[in-house]
Amino acid sequence: MRGRSRLEKCRNTFETIFRRSVGTEPEVAQTQGARGDHTGDKDGPKSLYNLMADRQEQAEKSVLISCPSRTSEKRFLKFLSNHGDVKKHFFYESYGVYAVVEFASRDNVVSLLESAAIPGVSHESVVPFKSRLLSLRNHSSVHSPTQQSDLPCQPQTTAPISELIQRLSREESVDDQINSLTEAYQLTEENSRLRFLVCSLLKDVAAAYFPECTIRPFGSSVNGFGKLGCDLDMFLDLDSISGWNVKMPKSGLSLEYQMKRTNSERHVTQSILSVIGECVDHFGPGCVGVQKILNARCPLVRFAHQPSGFQCDLTANNRVAMKSTELLYLYGELDPRVRSLVFTIRCWARAHGVTSSIPGAWITNFALTVMVLFFLQKRAPPIIPKLDYLRDLAGPADESVIEGNDCTFVTDFSKIQLPSNTETLEQLLSDFFEFYATFPFSRMSINIRKGKEQNKLEVTPLHIQNPFETSLNVSKNVNSSQLDRFVALCQESAWLLQQSENRTPRGVGGDNTPTPWGLATLLLPSQVAGIKGRKKRKREPASERIKSLLESLKNKNEGRKSQDS
Ligand code: GTP
Ligand code: MG
Repeated sequence: MRGRSRLEKCRNTFETIFRRSVGTEPEVAQTQGARGDHTGDKDGPKSLYNLMADRQEQAEKSVLISCPSRTSEKRFLKFLSNHGDVKKHFFYESYGVYAVVEFASRDNVVSLLESAAIPGVSHESVVPFKSRLLSLRNHSSVHSPTQQSDLPCQPQTTAPISELIQRLSREESVDDQINSLTEAYQLTEENSRLRFLVCSLLKDVAAAYFPECTIRPFGSSVNGFGKLGCDLDMFLDLDSISGWNVKMPKSGLSLEYQMKRTNSERHVTQSILSVIGECVDHFGPGCVGVQKILNARCPLVRFAHQPSGFQCDLTANNRVAMKSTELLYLYGELDPRVRSLVFTIRCWARAHGVTSSIPGAWITNFALTVMVLFFLQKRAPPIIPKLDYLRDLAGPADESVIEGNDCTFVTDFSKIQLPSNTETLEQLLSDFFEFYATFPFSRMSINIRKGKEQNKLEVTPLHIQNPFETSLNVSKNVNSSQLDRFVALCQESAWLLQQSENRTPRGVGGDNTPTPWGLATLLLPSQVAGIKGRKKRKREPASERIKSLLESLKNKNEGRKSQDS
């Protein structure tokens, strides 16, 4: 009973939080309702496709404007209203103050751009590429030195971990801590808008060659598991260009385009990204540090978009990643605990350097998310279904085969039946750590398609089957010392959550700072695995604390085995 009411509370809190971040705010819901989509609020969750279509439309009617620090919001809005109704605006700071402004129509944007001038610079030259990234100039002759900016800036980065630990320590239950962490770290409504706007600005560059192309965000920017400050993965979609797969008439005349031919699709992708990368580098306002990484398994162009502060990866022909994003989003929509748990584990992993923004032998966020999903499939009863079940529910419209890989799964959420599982987030968090503290990584592979571990056929330390390209291992990069660290941290965190003093709030200390407890203690520097940034030290002999932790886990497992047999 206690579990059920907590679950209900968590569900309500989470739904409020998530509405803010991905785009199910009321005005979006209304737009969809008016179109008669089956994905409206009362009919269940919306598909990622619909959410993205709305966000893209908003982005195309938006501009990004750098504002002088003493701008008056009132004056600024009055100036903008000369070109049309402003539907939404907000300010943020990134190398100066910027405003994101959404107009009621694209004509308003055209009108605004027509009024803008090309800057006259005395000692430099400019590339006259016009984009929707603008600078506001204040030509008023009278400047009051006392005039302060009244611009309310929305944060686009997370507070430091020390502040998060204090915030969590003030909460009253571990479930509240998990919800509080999600609220503090997840992408906000504004950050989500900014991500789609950057894609739309980039599309304007690519449109010089491919006017009908689309640039879509994928990965954690849209899968529901993104943290403020995460990178912006973008996919240049040329499938939206008309003319593919047009049926030729059986008789009479017809035309087709003459086009450059090459011997592989990979080569086409590399050529396109190479040219777009050059354009971004030479003409893209605000794009710096452009690197073309064309020989990677998935060729990409990497750069920093300074006005937004995003680290960007632009790929093309990366449809499987788009499908993985859709799948992760769907799992996150099925039960609010999925997203909360994934979010918490991602933050925990980052706090301990299990994951990193630098490529290497670390577990990636994607692999870690698949591990959480697998754990949730293994609950009794399962919290989410296996991918094969979602595949069996698919209708003809869901069919998707990409480069010979079956990427089909149901997109109509209402067809998915879930058994009732009322476990609390606290229980799931604690069991997640125990599950992986004792998982037989040396023998078994993690497989979310089957929802069951499979015998491992490869000699890699960690094997997680790629959900769609099933012959691939998404954690091939992980070496045994990184896996050992992960396991040691899971053991330690499982043990910490089992300690009675860690399971309830512990009040405030002498300096009025709350004493860390519950989830907050899991984010403190670890005693088993050396903290991020510290040089790797030779492993010290196990402390008494860890010895007793291992002992307690061993006893527990033995108890379970004897119950099973
Ligand atoms: P962060 O950027 O770390 O916040 O998480 P992310 O989920 O965005 O991961 P990342 O930027 O590394 O990758 C972006 C997306 O590409 C993921 O969400 C997946 O959809 C996909 N992806 C990443 N790694 C793999 C992989 O090894 N195999 C497959 N099939 N897809 C991957
Ligand atoms: Mg990413």
